[in-house]
Amino acid sequence: MNGLIDFHTHILPQIDDGSKSIEESIKMVELLAKQNVKTIVATPHFYANRIGISEFIEKRNTAYNKLRSKLKLSNIEILLGAEVKYYEGISRLENLNQLCIEKSNLLLLEMPFARWTEFEIKELLELSCLKNITVVIAHIERYIGFQNKSTIKRLRENGVLIQTNANFFTGFFTKHKACSMFKNGEIQFIGSDCHGSVYRPPHIAKAYEIIKKKHDSDFFEEYCSFIESFFDKKINS
Ligand SMILES: [Fe+2]
Repeated sequence: MNGLIDFHTHILPQIDDGSKSIEESIKMVELLAKQNVKTIVATPHFYANRIGISEFIEKRNTAYNKLRSKLKLSNIEILLGAEVKYYEGISRLENLNQLCIEKSNLLLLEMPFARWTEFEIKELLELSCLKNITVVIAHIERYIGFQNKSTIKRLRENGVLIQTNANFFTGFFTKHKACSMFKNGEIQFIGSDCHGSVYRPPHIAKAYEIIKKKHDSDFFEEYCSFIESFFDKKINS
């Protein structure tokens, strides 16, 4: 992997509550490029009660092609994925693996903003047992306060991976917790969760800087290789 990765973004134009236009998407990509981000995972919201998987993929491809045709930065790789909203019964949704991030089995899942029920936890565990899906819980920092301490541990021990937003590492009141979770291997992926070029713009480099400062020089390279190991083809090399 050459450069940084932003694992959670809403950079595709006019597909969700993220970028409002191609021009705004280009600005967002440029802002990330300035921060040495070379791989951007596009994760538009997916709500199963609003759209089918094939229609979503078609819309996503159209938005991506529009952006790519106008984007001059050819060295930026954009991987297509989704931020899939959890609902009871999601494990029975056919072809769910088609929403995994390109070149990987990683499925970014947005959980309910509440204490998760035993049913929900069991369904997450069921999903994580599917051989073609590895569950990644999006922005865990929003939920940890609601959960039993043992819940996240139980999920992680069963192969569920964790994403946090970059501002978890930069927030005055949260950075200590973020760094300690990262050090303990409780966070795998970091994303800006950007939604625009002005409103919720992409800030991610500072989070990576904080991580780099806290670890020795080989660590970051090892971390990048670790991230790359989740993808079946080389990303941005
Ligand atoms: Fe998001």
